[in-house]
Amino acid sequence: MDTAAATETEGAEGAEGEVPADHSVAADGGEAVHHQEIHDVAFSFEGPFGKYDQFQLQRGLQIYTEVCSGCHGMKQVPLRTLSDTSGPGLPEDQVRAYAGQLSVVDAETGEERPRVPTDHFPTIVGEGMGPDLSLMAKARAGFHGPYGTGISQLVNGIGGPEYIYSILTGYTGEEKEQAGTVFYENTAFPGGWISMAPPLSDDAVTFEDGSPTDLDNLAKDISAFLMWTAEPKMMQRKQAGLVSVLFLVVLTVLLYLTNKRLWWPLKHRKDVPGDGL
Ligand code: HEC
Repeated sequence: MDTAAATETEGAEGAEGEVPADHSVAADGGEAVHHQEIHDVAFSFEGPFGKYDQFQLQRGLQIYTEVCSGCHGMKQVPLRTLSDTSGPGLPEDQVRAYAGQLSVVDAETGEERPRVPTDHFPTIVGEGMGPDLSLMAKARAGFHGPYGTGISQLVNGIGGPEYIYSILTGYTGEEKEQAGTVFYENTAFPGGWISMAPPLSDDAVTFEDGSPTDLDNLAKDISAFLMWTAEPKMMQRKQAGLVSVLFLVVLTVLLYLTNKRLWWPLKHRKDVPGDGL
């Protein structure tokens, strides 16, 4: 999936004729060099105690369903995980209803049937369709393709969800056509031009609970959701990490005390003067 995404992008850039290895393509006929602008976002799931915000994940699911799912599949994500309590936490009947709206060609009978919760989200391929989004937030942690180094994530805590947020909010409004494809200027996309038309704008969706629907908030909600699809067990991993750190701290203290106790009699042998110790 990643390779496909990278190849597609390279194809697009190849049309421009000049693609330096570091992906900084001259934005306009070689006049300016493009620098990727990735903005930091304070997501609820950052830091050692960070957690996914269940309502935000539900809003993200709605945005994915209403806007992104037309062009992007999420084939790695089993529909049943929508009811995970550390995820969107939807009631099981809602998950069943959600799955039922999506159809799938049954592998055994070869016939089309409604999906069930044990099925995955659909795979979407074809002309004008985008790459699968299931693992995008992890694949782009280093910002692009297999070449991303992840240094920024390590040093600044900026990773995949910030990349997705920055793509969605990074359109300048400029367009150009090349070899029959329209490209949109985007300050976050490597090379500066992306073939995805701006998918989100203010009020692109309406939330029942009245949550804000300006572009900025929509981009945050869908990015958080895509982080969850890429790493649904993040909270458990963090918890396990904390437990092992705690365990190591306790073990260190115990070893220190044991060590002291073992050596105490030898270090305090003042009672036998003149024996050389
Ligand atoms: C009309 C079809 C369409 C819709 C709707 C759409 N996309 Fe895309 N998307 C694309 C295409 C095509 C690409 C590949 C662009 C390229 O490589 O130049 C893409 C690329 C992307 C990328 C960049 C991937 C990379 O290679 O780094 C992200 C992230 C993305 N889309 C997220 C979304 C999200 C989130 C939504 C919903 C809010 C969405 N897209 C809606 C067609 C679409």
